[in-house]
Amino acid sequence: MHPLPYSYKSPLLTLDHVSMRYGPDLILRDLNAQVLDVVRPGLSQGQVVGIYGRSGIGKSVLCRLLAGLAAPTAGTVLVGEAQEPVQAGMVGYVQQRYPLFGHYTLEGNLLLAARRRHPAAEARDRVAHFLTRFGLAAHARKYPAHLSGGQRQRAAIAQQLLCSEHLILLDEPFSGLDVAMIDEVKRLIVEVTTLDELNTVLIVSHDIATTTALADRLWLLAPERSPDTGQLLPGATLSPRHQYNLAQLGLAWHPDVESEPEFVEFVEGIKQEIRGS
Ligand SMILES: Nc1ncnc2c1ncn2[C@@H]1O[C@H](COP(=O)(O)OP(=O)(O)OP(=O)(O)O)[C@@H](O)[C@H]1O
Ligand SMILES: [Mg+2]
Repeated sequence: MHPLPYSYKSPLLTLDHVSMRYGPDLILRDLNAQVLDVVRPGLSQGQVVGIYGRSGIGKSVLCRLLAGLAAPTAGTVLVGEAQEPVQAGMVGYVQQRYPLFGHYTLEGNLLLAARRRHPAAEARDRVAHFLTRFGLAAHARKYPAHLSGGQRQRAAIAQQLLCSEHLILLDEPFSGLDVAMIDEVKRLIVEVTTLDELNTVLIVSHDIATTTALADRLWLLAPERSPDTGQLLPGATLSPRHQYNLAQLGLAWHPDVESEPEFVEFVEGIKQEIRGS
């Protein structure tokens, strides 16, 4: 497959020498990585990063750092066009269990989120827009307990879009969903990333094929060996060879990429890397 035309503008997310330690355990070691604003001629194109790694390697810990919910032991996370140090509330974080307030309706939950950033009238307009856009208008007056899993998930994504800037983290968005629902969430992610040039979605997933098909960049968290001794170093990192630019490889933004032999081969290679890490 041929690479589609693209170029890069300013950084939207930077991990600058980020390490995280819990007590004596180094979980993340010296992470350095960047997401740049990708520009495609004539299109409004956001960014999608897939984050992979073995269970227990530190993906959720990384999410907490990226969301500003925990401070790294060393280094900095910078977000947005202004590249400010991240603070809680700047990045939307959709955890696996989509926490919504049970005593508010779906619409009430979204209004609560929107009011954190917008005056009342604008908040109402934005909520109405998102309800329609995400196919939730008919369910606006339902309480979370009466929504299906997929509806709750769309609500949680809408909620995070309403109250965060442009960055959204999705932790395991495909687990426990049926095939039709996976397609729906995929469409939603494409929609979110084409709503605004600066929208950036980071997807933590064990579903390598589905996530890779959506992404233009991949990060694989893995331990690294010392170049001197060959011994495994403590903690996981994002070595340059584990940061993949799918736009450059010609694998980004092709509809139905999943059936292409080059894509299948690439995904198999990633799985081998994960197995060997
Ligand atoms: N608050 C904490 N205190 C101490 N250790 C922690 C804390 N949070 C996470 N850890 C440890 O950090 C390591 C990474 O955990 P994390 O939840 O990030 O894994 P993960 O990559 O998300 O795994 P999975 O794919 O299973 O979700 C684990 O060994 C975990 O025990
Ligand atoms: Mg996790």
